[in-house]
Amino acid sequence: MEVDEAIVSRASVKKFADRDVPKELIEKCLELAVWAPNHRLTEPWRFRVVTDRGRDAIADVIREQLASDSSRVDQTEGTANAETKGLFSGPLQFTATVKSSIAAEQVRRKIMSAPVLIVVYSLRAVDETLTRENFAATAAAVQNLLLGAHHLGLAAIWRTADYFAGDKARAFLQIPAEADFVAAVYLGFPDQRETTRKRTPAQQWTVWFQH
Ligand SMILES: Cc1cc2nc3c(=O)[nH]c(=O)nc-3n(C[C@H](O)[C@H](O)[C@H](O)COP(=O)(O)O)c2cc1C
Repeated sequence: MEVDEAIVSRASVKKFADRDVPKELIEKCLELAVWAPNHRLTEPWRFRVVTDRGRDAIADVIREQLASDSSRVDQTEGTANAETKGLFSGPLQFTATVKSSIAAEQVRRKIMSAPVLIVVYSLRAVDETLTRENFAATAAAVQNLLLGAHHLGLAAIWRTADYFAGDKARAFLQIPAEADFVAAVYLGFPDQRETTRKRTPAQQWTVWFQH
């Protein structure tokens, strides 16, 4: 596949076949990711590959994360406050704790929908400019990963979600506090037809200066 064809035909995929991805293919995607440009060769990307039962484990960690976040909300609002807001007055009105439990199940379903989850973080640097450069380099690495996966017949989607930035997810994934969450890449063999994708021609966003 030529590079231009790979770029244009890559598409985000949300439905994956119930089929494991050989480890060598995942490793190949990551090897392509690290060829992204990175200023000062800081190699700021950190990848955490979660497969098989690891997905259950990270889903459990996220459930804990959401529960502890929500118990803080419930404590802050207080029962009296909740009563005045009518939170307990009907079947469709929930406390933050109940909402977190529902959210945790949705997250678990999302995580289990793909055989492979690659969580990507970017190391911070000594100042904001370098940290931004690191983040940009890591984003480029994620695009390499997506293109590599596509080239290898795999499908992927780049997702963002606050819970991967949370303390519990970081601790589980062995990510230092001095790193920013960049992407959760869900990876697998595709189980959906091609989607229609649209882009505005670049010309519309481009200004040329030719003196
Ligand atoms: C930084 C970033 C975050 C994204 N987060 C999500 C997400 O949380 N959920 C989702 O469904 N798609 C997410 N996407 C995928 C985009 O929705 C997708 O790339 C866009 O719809 C264009 O479709 P395409 O990738 O098929 O060209 C994200 C993409 C990027 C670059």
